[in-house]
Amino acid sequence: MNDKDLTMTLIEARPAVKRESMHPSITAEQISQLVEQFYAQVQTNPRLAPLFSQNMSSDWGPHLEKMKGFWRSVLLKSGEYKGRPVPVHLQITDIRSEDFEEWLQLFSSVSERIFTCEAADVVNQAARRIATSLWLSRTSDPFASPPAWSQPVSAQNHPSAP
Ligand code: HEM
Repeated sequence: MNDKDLTMTLIEARPAVKRESMHPSITAEQISQLVEQFYAQVQTNPRLAPLFSQNMSSDWGPHLEKMKGFWRSVLLKSGEYKGRPVPVHLQITDIRSEDFEEWLQLFSSVSERIFTCEAADVVNQAARRIATSLWLSRTSDPFASPPAWSQPVSAQNHPSAP
């Protein structure tokens, strides 16, 4: 076997990286519904609507397409989203912790209508995790505590629960 053949054999023998979706029942169609229904609600929310409209670099159409790609990347591991959400959100100077909390409540209520209970838990956990890192990226304090809303609602009601 020459060097080239050996290299090809080694490459083919590499285990394929398995990119599994976060829950087997989640479909791209559900993700489209999630994004469309969620941002329709955002646009009528008294606090969130102006935060978005004053800070968007495009119309809603391109934003929704980008967000569908983002959520397919997160939930289905499609790998298609190549953006950098942290700097985008850092530019929104008047965003408050309560705004993220409201964003999450709205998002969870929409996702619970679309996904199975188990899948909605997974989707909402992912949203909470990303929201927490977007919020914590705004502070330069390395010891900053995560906000209460970064915990599942059950843990927020029972802070001492294990
Ligand atoms: C109160 C909370 C939030 C506000 C006001 C907000 C607002 C915005 C705005 C205005 C943009 C559009 C920027 C543009 O068009 O140039 C944007 C983009 C985006 N947001 Fe948020 N957002 C919030 C929370 C979140 C959360 C919790 C997530 C994820 C779980 C998220 C994910 C994204 C992503 C992926 C983009 C696209 C960034 C890119 O251009 O690649 N956002 N957001």
